[in-house]
Amino acid sequence: MTDRDRPVLVTGGAGYIGSHICKALARAGYLPVTFDNLIYGHERAVKWGPLERGDILDRARLDEAMRRHKPGAILHFAAYTYVGESVSDPGRYYRNNVCGTLTLLEAARDNAVPYFVFSSTCATYGIPDKVPLGEDTAQNPINPYGESKLFAERMLRDFGAAHGIGSIALRYFNAAGADPDNEIGESHDPETHLIPLVLDAASGRRESITVFGTDYDTPDGTCIRDYIHVADLADAHVRALQHLEKSGAPSSAAYNLGNGQGFSVREVIHAVERVTGLEVPVVLGARRAGDPARLIADSAKAREELGWEPHIHELDEIIRTAWAWHQREPRR
Ligand SMILES: NC(=O)c1ccc[n+]([C@@H]2O[C@H](COP(=O)([O-])OP(=O)(O)OC[C@H]3O[C@@H](n4cnc5c(N)ncnc54)[C@H](O)[C@@H]3O)[C@@H](O)[C@H]2O)c1
Repeated sequence: MTDRDRPVLVTGGAGYIGSHICKALARAGYLPVTFDNLIYGHERAVKWGPLERGDILDRARLDEAMRRHKPGAILHFAAYTYVGESVSDPGRYYRNNVCGTLTLLEAARDNAVPYFVFSSTCATYGIPDKVPLGEDTAQNPINPYGESKLFAERMLRDFGAAHGIGSIALRYFNAAGADPDNEIGESHDPETHLIPLVLDAASGRRESITVFGTDYDTPDGTCIRDYIHVADLADAHVRALQHLEKSGAPSSAAYNLGNGQGFSVREVIHAVERVTGLEVPVVLGARRAGDPARLIADSAKAREELGWEPHIHELDEIIRTAWAWHQREPRR
């Protein structure tokens, strides 16, 4: 059996992004085995392979799952992701995201899993001095969440050099949208991402949306972010895995994944009004600490080396998929 024929262990596969990757893996002919403790994930989102319920900090459970399924690769999404909480409770983030990734990497080493793809983030860059951001932008995270992801990237590099694990870290910008077939979508609790929050305000699930800062140096004064559709992220993960399998080299690399276009908070709100036909009640608030005016990805390296191209560019199209899911999903 080649590595290509072995199942892929997807930690966090019951979560928002992980579940979309499981679907893309199954389409590409892989068997995704989800390893998730369901702290934030949903059992109903695990549809394309078995679920191993367990915690990445539990080495014995990881070994058991790896012995049972003999994965040819690990795609690692399991993490805590709330930036604000990482500031108020850093230990929770370092334990889960750093110690959890270390436990997983040691299990990968000892169970001879050759390839590892990691969910990193543009939060590892902190406040950039120029946009768009290439992979050579200095990594100076400004919160424990971003720090925890940077530690994990460094561990991947060192485990690659010492133990021959080939790895790719994918630094995503703002993941957005839902499965175009509307089988899965974004159902965080609590929700902190802009598009689902604006949809909640449009549909009356929340009273209003607060715009944090209207005096940034941007055309309409609100922050600009790069929204990358989750189906395009999923495609990039499959390509990253195939790239590792093809090269076979125990190297570590990082790629930015973004749409390459920025949209402001006001543009998102207007797009939601267009797509839903509903009015969005808006409250104007003060700036939040640590929010850069613009974050836009330069993903040229992923295009060149992975042959990746985002297909769902238009903000209205991204929001249409999120709105379809919003109307379908059980209330959070
Ligand atoms: N959503 C974004 O915009 C974004 C941007 C950049 C990076 N990321 C990264 O992508 C990954 C997935 O994000 P998401 O939005 O899908 O989050 P999510 O919360 O929906 O998914 C994370 C999953 O990991 C599981 N999990 C957490 N800790 C675990 C543990 N110790 N053991 C086992 N399972 C555990 C949760 O139950 C959940 O199913 C995260 O690593 C996140 O840091 C997300």
